[in-house]
Amino acid sequence: MEQAFKLEQGLTKAERYERFLELFKPFIEGETDRLAALANTAAALHEAFGFFWVGFYLVANDEWLSLGPFQGSVACSRIRKGRGVCGTAWQIGETQIVPDVDAFPGHIACSSQSRSEIVVPIRDSQGRVTAVLDIDSDKPADFDTTDQKGLEAVAECLKKV
Ligand code: SME
Repeated sequence: MEQAFKLEQGLTKAERYERFLELFKPFIEGETDRLAALANTAAALHEAFGFFWVGFYLVANDEWLSLGPFQGSVACSRIRKGRGVCGTAWQIGETQIVPDVDAFPGHIACSSQSRSEIVVPIRDSQGRVTAVLDIDSDKPADFDTTDQKGLEAVAECLKKV
């Protein structure tokens, strides 16, 4: 399994997501252990795209998200509903693309190197948000609707775990 998600050079961003999903769907399909699935998803995304920080915040109760599996540096362990980019994505139930984290009211800075961010809600099969996938970049405006489409497809694969 070493470097199973290392993608070939020279692909466009859309092609990278396409290729990633070809590898990821069969890989994650049979996994029923949620923690194992989320941990491997963070590792696979990190290996394929080299994201600065990629991980999950899990819905702990009506009010709080708790830090879940991630790849990157130490991050804040709890986020309140409606706070920061993650808490906003959870509350609104929609993907948030933040081209400049300093311009996002209430952004929670876990790393001063983080410049832009995308957060995608993860829903269960009843449509309830159970977690969010948070990805940070050290470059400004690094995420667009191609990332949104690709990462929402990843979220869809995690519906049953
Ligand atoms: N920036 C996030 C907090 C989590 S860290 O980026 C890992 C936010 O504003 O919700």
